[in-house]
Amino acid sequence: MKSDQPQPKVNKADTWLTGLVIKGDGRGRTLGWPTANLKLDSGTQRPADGVYAAWATLADGVVHQAAVHVGPRPTVADPTTTVEVLLLDFADRDLYGELISFRVVRRLRDIKKFDDLDQLKQAILTDCQQTREILGIKKGQLQTDLNS
Ligand SMILES: Cc1cc2nc3c(=O)[nH]c(=O)nc-3n(C[C@H](O)[C@H](O)[C@H](O)COP(=O)(O)O)c2cc1C
Repeated sequence: MKSDQPQPKVNKADTWLTGLVIKGDGRGRTLGWPTANLKLDSGTQRPADGVYAAWATLADGVVHQAAVHVGPRPTVADPTTTVEVLLLDFADRDLYGELISFRVVRRLRDIKKFDDLDQLKQAILTDCQQTREILGIKKGQLQTDLNS
């Protein structure tokens, strides 16, 4: 491709990314936000670091609203990049070894270093609220998309 041509956009809103649920450190579960830590398929282009509102599909085919973290975790001094899916309206159960697909809809914010876990928790609560607002509006549109 010539360099003066526009580069193809990766991770467009209509791209579904799939990953295997692996063991995280387990802190989120005890703090009140059990997340599914994903190992993405090899070769998958990750979304840029940040927090996203997304749709997530579980192996049973059920689609959930989700707040997704992509990147390091400076608040807990962990520089490793993780992809964590926080499923909304989900009766928590063991998902290890299952595949989850997600489709990002909107970027909510950058990853931040919070002073303590309580501030991180407040930020995650806001992320979840914004996710509900954004996807609540988009849901009718998505269903139209899927049915068309
Ligand atoms: C929606 C969401 C947003 C997050 N945002 C941040 C962030 O801004 N900064 C950060 O250090 N960690 C962030 N995290 C990751 C948390 O640090 C992580 O969930 C926590 O350390 C527990 O991880 P564990 O269950 O693997 O132990 C976020 C996680 C979620 C689900």
